[in-house]
Amino acid sequence: MEDTVKLIFEGKTYELPIVTGSEGEKAIDISNLRPMTGLITLDPGYANTGSCTSSITFMDGEKGILRYRGIPVEQLAEHSSFLETVYLLINGRLPTKAELNNMSVLFNDNSLVHEDMQIFYQNFPRASHPMGILSSMVNALRSFYPELQTLEEEINITVTRLLSKVRTMAAMSYKISRGHKVVYPRPDLKYCANFLNMMFDTPVKPYRIDEDLVRALDVFWILHADHEQNCSTSAVRLVGSGRVNLYAAISAGIAALWGPLHGGANQAVIEMLSDIQKDGGNYRRAIERAKDKKDPFRLMGFGHRVYKAYDPRARIMKKMCDKVLFKLKINDPLLDIAKELEEAALKDDYFTEYNLYPNIDFYSGIVLRAMGIPTNMFTVMFAIGRLPGWIAQWKESLDDPKWKLGRPRQIYIGPTQTDYIPIDQR
Ligand code: CMC
Repeated sequence: MEDTVKLIFEGKTYELPIVTGSEGEKAIDISNLRPMTGLITLDPGYANTGSCTSSITFMDGEKGILRYRGIPVEQLAEHSSFLETVYLLINGRLPTKAELNNMSVLFNDNSLVHEDMQIFYQNFPRASHPMGILSSMVNALRSFYPELQTLEEEINITVTRLLSKVRTMAAMSYKISRGHKVVYPRPDLKYCANFLNMMFDTPVKPYRIDEDLVRALDVFWILHADHEQNCSTSAVRLVGSGRVNLYAAISAGIAALWGPLHGGANQAVIEMLSDIQKDGGNYRRAIERAKDKKDPFRLMGFGHRVYKAYDPRARIMKKMCDKVLFKLKINDPLLDIAKELEEAALKDDYFTEYNLYPNIDFYSGIVLRAMGIPTNMFTVMFAIGRLPGWIAQWKESLDDPKWKLGRPRQIYIGPTQTDYIPIDQR
């Protein structure tokens, strides 16, 4: 089998090596292309470019496969917990009971947020988006928890702090946005239950933990935990490649996730479904608009850069949606609209030709709505889930012997050298 490709340029032939992944994926290694040929490659949106080798997550977009450290996401959603998945992603293997317990204890020990940070929260204008607040506050953590002595200590403690504090910070921002008293984390509660309690417990109505909802949140976060080199993860790796501290790199990831084409799609889906509801449930009009090339409107929650088949996470999310709504005896008209819209889109030639299927965000907002999470917090929920993936990818990049400062090139298409004209002669 050929393990090189030949490139012919200006009459000369160059051999470029092929790199093969453990699942048989192949890439042309162009790391010596410019020194050898003077050429660079041009690939807008990096659709054909691998930025690294990685042993964290495997996706096969054509077959709809997603695995973390080799384990299918379906198995993790069925049998694992978010905390166990966090351990798996960051450490590369499943934990023992003792390791998992130890992690749980460490998370509890680090769950409080510096009291002075509350002042920041209170000074954000009321209309601030929680993603903007979260990104700023995660960056601000560095000032409250400055650099540690050794790199190993830095990594272990910062990772624990971040994973634990992020859910306290998210719940805190919700409480403060409502003008309510902050609820502190409870050491007797596990990760997901603790978050729900911090969000919804009030002095007048104590929060009653519902194990089914806790499990739904566990699965929700497992499904979001990593997705290889997507926009926000690439942002974390790129920003991290300048060797900034982890808080700054994660803060960049949160900002990247915010966009409606990426993690912000879960909020955009609910807004789209609500608009369809206001339009008398006319989902066909939304489909026609999405197909109209003169209209910038897209069906939110549909399509994916990698998946050209049904997103495996969306399949699990759809089932969970039915389960949660049934359990809570909620009849959400947006779910009916979503199902009708999906059915009609999947029968439409445009969507089949473009391989546009529902992605994770199509049903996730309905699950979050049922849990009582406000719409503008949906992407924050995605961010909490994605945090272990970002951290695992950042950690992997630190250990990669081939890692370089991220610095793409460009093909300049602006004016060639032009003389300066003094202002009074223009
Ligand atoms: N509705 C209508 N047309 C679409 C859609 C859509 N949702 N998605 C892609 N297309 C069309 C697009 O108009 C384009 O058509 P043409 O080639 O004729 O100009 C073609 O499909 C390819 O689109 P693209 O934007 O070049 O492809 P991409 O691989 O960059 O798209 C995407 C990926 C997620 C940006 C896109 O599918 C989209 O905008 N979807 C809606 C937003 C969304 O749900 N995002 C969440 C993604 S899953 C969460 C995550 O992991 O980030």
